[in-house]
Amino acid sequence: MPDSTPVTSPTVLIAGAGIGGLIMAILFEKAGIEYKIFERHDRIATQGSATALSFNVMPVMEQLGLLEELKGISNILDGTTIFKEDMEVIREIRLRNNKRLTGYDSLVTSRPDFQALLLSRVPKEKIHMSKKIVSLSQSEESVTITCEDGSAYTGDILVGADGTQSTVRKLLYQQLEMQGIQAKIEQEDPKVEYMSVMGTTGPLSPSNYEGLDDSVSHCDTIISEERGVTWRYFTIPNNRICWRIDYQSSTMDKKYSQGWTNAEYNTFETQALPEEWRKNKLAIMGDLGSLFDATPYENISKVVLEEKVYETWTHGRTVLIGDALNAILDAVVLTNSLYEMPTTNHKNITKAFEEFYAERYPTVKRELTPTQQMTTVLAAKTWLDSAGRYLLLKTYPKYFKEKSEEYIQSYRPQALFLPRIETKGEIPLTPQRPSKKYTAQAKAQLAAQSATAI
Ligand SMILES: *[C@@H]1O[C@H](CO)[C@@H](O)[C@H](O)[C@H]1NC(C)=O
Ligand SMILES: *[C@@H]1O[C@H](CO)[C@@H](O)[C@H](O)[C@H]1NC(C)=O
Repeated sequence: MPDSTPVTSPTVLIAGAGIGGLIMAILFEKAGIEYKIFERHDRIATQGSATALSFNVMPVMEQLGLLEELKGISNILDGTTIFKEDMEVIREIRLRNNKRLTGYDSLVTSRPDFQALLLSRVPKEKIHMSKKIVSLSQSEESVTITCEDGSAYTGDILVGADGTQSTVRKLLYQQLEMQGIQAKIEQEDPKVEYMSVMGTTGPLSPSNYEGLDDSVSHCDTIISEERGVTWRYFTIPNNRICWRIDYQSSTMDKKYSQGWTNAEYNTFETQALPEEWRKNKLAIMGDLGSLFDATPYENISKVVLEEKVYETWTHGRTVLIGDALNAILDAVVLTNSLYEMPTTNHKNITKAFEEFYAERYPTVKRELTPTQQMTTVLAAKTWLDSAGRYLLLKTYPKYFKEKSEEYIQSYRPQALFLPRIETKGEIPLTPQRPSKKYTAQAKAQLAAQSATAI
């Protein structure tokens, strides 16, 4: 197709109906960008543990009209306490200044609840289920995906929002390899395998768990001294608890990891875990066994913790976005770039992807080196064995950084194609270049209004 084809908005294929794909869809609805979502499963996943959303994403949640409902399904997240197995406190981290500094609390809800909220804002007909992508081809003019059922879809752009085990990434990297281009991957020690088992309970009795019905989440991390096992939980609304256990599977009996594939959000039976883990205590009374028993089998999942940092995010007409919290920030920045893009020609798409990468990569890269962040927290705790320390570093949420850094607090990007939310909080925002397209439209609208007024 020649460049002169008068297209104002691209057609985007989104792989994955998880948090990333759904938030992308909601932004595209608002930005007037055509899209279709392709989900490999036949239903939206209901597994998963906590989704913590930091103040960084709240302005855009407010812009999208999701903030009030989000508060309704969340508890306030104001910190965490790290314990030894005998409940001796190692460290307490409180985030109480966030609201004053940024205008928003951080919130925690369950992944299925958050996903359901997002899903309620996406027209059903835009989501194509049971569409497992098996091949990807792209040219100067378009990108085409083929699914396992033989169907094929063509668009201007493909967004890989299909999680940590992204198929789109795999296909893209294969394509790069065939073209003799080396995808950039940073890999940690591949010999050691770490796994997580996670879930969200049904309603529990507040008399069995301390502070279960508080509106501020009780979030504790407990590190076993000898075994290199870490467990963490968050209390969420309706007297439920999101929990996860992280452990080094390579030092355990093979029977605990046999047959495990690196698939994301597979269901899992807790009977397959060492029996004695059931007795692991929680700091709010109760034990892990009581959480296992209160979590329906189909809602428990296991994941193999990623040891790799994928540094190549874009090639041709394909772009990858991150998981969970990063997915939201990635989606906002990417949609801003696509909204502003003058045409859908190859050159303009490359430029838009470059803008997105330039803004997001440095932040994500910083977050992907948790070892540095956590040194202050764990310094001098030599009693922690290396696996326990590693797991804590690996799975410790970024927003619990004890020493808040200004760049994180000032980074609260908004959608440039929606009315801006006034700046809240004491810490100023990282400036965003306003959208020329949006400014021009707003001006034209104002002119039209004053014309009719006359
Ligand atoms: C567990 O998953 C089912 C669907 O498989 C869902 O309907 C249900 O709400 C989930 N239960 C909890 C406690 O999250
Ligand atoms: C978009 O593409 C047109 C036509 O190739 C080119 O003239 C223009 O400079 C491009 N704009 C950007 C922002 O890449």
